[in-house]
Amino acid sequence: MEEIRRKREEISEEDVLAEVEIWKYVFGFVEMGVIKCAIDLGIADLIQAQGKPMTLPELLVATHECSLSKLYRLMRFLVHRNIFKEVSTSDGVKSYDLTPISRLLVKHGERSMAAFLLLESSPVMLAPWHAFSGCVPESGKPAFEAAHGVDVWGYASGDPEHSELINEAMACDARLVVPAILEDCPSLFDGVQTVVDVGGGNGTTLGMLVKAYPWLKGTNFDLPHVASVAPKIDNVEHVGGDFFVNIPKADAAFVMWSLHDWGDEECINILRKCKEAIPKDGGKVIIVEAVIDEVEEHEFKDVRYVLDMVMMAHTSAGKERTQEDWTNILRESGFSRHTIYPIRAIQAVIVAWP
Ligand SMILES: C[S@@+](CC[C@H](N)C(=O)[O-])C[C@H]1O[C@@H](n2cnc3c(N)ncnc32)[C@H](O)[C@@H]1O
Repeated sequence: MEEIRRKREEISEEDVLAEVEIWKYVFGFVEMGVIKCAIDLGIADLIQAQGKPMTLPELLVATHECSLSKLYRLMRFLVHRNIFKEVSTSDGVKSYDLTPISRLLVKHGERSMAAFLLLESSPVMLAPWHAFSGCVPESGKPAFEAAHGVDVWGYASGDPEHSELINEAMACDARLVVPAILEDCPSLFDGVQTVVDVGGGNGTTLGMLVKAYPWLKGTNFDLPHVASVAPKIDNVEHVGGDFFVNIPKADAAFVMWSLHDWGDEECINILRKCKEAIPKDGGKVIIVEAVIDEVEEHEFKDVRYVLDMVMMAHTSAGKERTQEDWTNILRESGFSRHTIYPIRAIQAVIVAWP
């Protein structure tokens, strides 16, 4: 007893805080699981549709067949994490309302992140994390391939439902990042008549760009299984193909979040194909990717590091890159100069000229 007490006294304030901190990692998956449940139950959608806060009994009726006590405990956790908030209505009844975080969970909201969370919490995307340690050794197998036997794009080509989830998740990010690009780089498409979105998914990004710049005509270029099911968008043509083989010609090539999926050698090959697709004079390649800065603080710094781990788990050689990495890759790909424009997002805009 005496020894335990003596050892306890040796534990500093810092050690206790570390103990609190480590529990967060021990149960790190809990937030994801609970938020997924809130999306599945459509709690944010229900409150949004009602147009005012909802009481627990109202939520109970609307969510059908939930246990009252489990729904209460779920909401208590979500309120504790500021994902919803508790308010008192004029007649003093306690109700639940949206916060800026749960507004991002409204399924068809303009800034919805629901599909992205459903993708990352899907069994397909979680399985590679169980093989993650095995991908770190030099001779290690990529985690996604260890879990599924093929890479993520090969898997998606054989599973239309998962492919649609990937495209919807990417569209979530596009709806957040395109407004940041438009705000911080308004003259990006000055003098550009045609643009090809390289690995453009279901065309959400290009749809937003041609709407913002009405003179622009777009080619949305992606793998055949993605392009063939992409929805019709005015001023956008969907073309299926392989960016390692040939990219349709345009005044500018736009590449968002397609390069971080690949190792340096593949990246250089894609960028060389982009260079072939644009005019030698006046053409440009617009890259939208994270730039890791180990020194400077930034509101998205932590997400960039997290995303780098996600690339390690979900791709064979993909990664987030530093400014120096981008300089080396662009030089190797044959570009004479480039400029990096910071925007208020995970990504930056990197413009490269032949
Ligand atoms: C991470 S997603 C980015 C999607 C979109 N650019 C965005 O940011 O919303 C990468 C895209 O590259 C596409 N892709 C993968 N390999 C490809 C290839 N060899 N040729 C063309 N597209 C490819 C995938 O189908 C996917 O849509």
